[in-house]
Amino acid sequence: ALVTTKEMFRKAYEGGYAIGAFNVNNMEIIQAITEAAKEENAPVILQVSAGARKYAKHDYLVKLVEAALLDTDIPIALHLDHGEDFEICKACIDGGFTSVMIDGSKHSFEDNIALTKKVVEYAHERGVVVEGELGRLAGIEDDVNVSAEDALFTRPDEVEEFVSRTGVDSLAIAIGTSHGAFKFKPGQKPQLRFDILEEIQRRLPNFPIVLHGASSVSQEYVDIINKNGGKLDDAIGIPEDMLRQAASMAVCKINIDSDLRLAFTAGVREYIMNNPADFDPRKYLAKGREYVKALVKHKIINVLGCSGA
Ligand code: G3H
Ligand code: 13P
Ligand code: ZN
Repeated sequence: ALVTTKEMFRKAYEGGYAIGAFNVNNMEIIQAITEAAKEENAPVILQVSAGARKYAKHDYLVKLVEAALLDTDIPIALHLDHGEDFEICKACIDGGFTSVMIDGSKHSFEDNIALTKKVVEYAHERGVVVEGELGRLAGIEDDVNVSAEDALFTRPDEVEEFVSRTGVDSLAIAIGTSHGAFKFKPGQKPQLRFDILEEIQRRLPNFPIVLHGASSVSQEYVDIINKNGGKLDDAIGIPEDMLRQAASMAVCKINIDSDLRLAFTAGVREYIMNNPADFDPRKYLAKGREYVKALVKHKIINVLGCSGA
């Protein structure tokens, strides 16, 4: 059934596990994720970025998710990822989503509160839940030094005021993760600020926290890509044990996009390289879909801990 994240998060918090929030932008990826979730009897969040919405079109994605729902009883939430203004949030709330993120993290604290509150008011009147964000995810390309990087982490002393003044249902935080497949410099030891997460959890008891930029960038897929004509040097993600630790704490939603892209690309590249005379898109897309499904199963069982939840 199509649901909000409310009940999912309540149970995930209590059970010390997290729900996977997987980015979707085509039929094969939606099928791969929902089939994996169905086989593991796991609740799942399908999330759509502005870019995905532009690529596939809003109605196509909603209808594909509706089609997936015909096939399963698992709880599925349809979520807008990184909504940047009120208008895109409104379009998704009016257009069948059950959850939206308003990402006001680039604004000042006060402007972020005002924007987030406006989205929350509109969403809650219509039974839709809202994720806000405090702190900014670093990109290693940003070339920030350590003290500047410090300033990007979520400040625990701001979280209670932000949540109480906006009424958000969940909060995305910055504790050292980043988007993409190059999260740390070569030779740099991956690290997350669990001390900040702990302090946020102490100040916001029982409140669901969201971790963006949480792909692990498994070497297995990078190797398949590179062996089949790809060129991905120094791709590094978040180690799985750190994600398990976060899931056991207040983190109830773990965002994964890059890992899906890598698995899909590995499947497609491998198929095409091994079958140079084939030109039926169904053949290589099926391989991409198969790899994404295996990846999602692995996440559900070994990282998120939400199998059978
Ligand atoms: O937050 C970033 C997600 O991976 C979505 O990426 O904007 O390229 O669709 P995108
Ligand atoms: P990754 O790039 O680590 O997969 O993060 C995805 C994300 O946070 C989507 O909002
Ligand atoms: Zn994100």
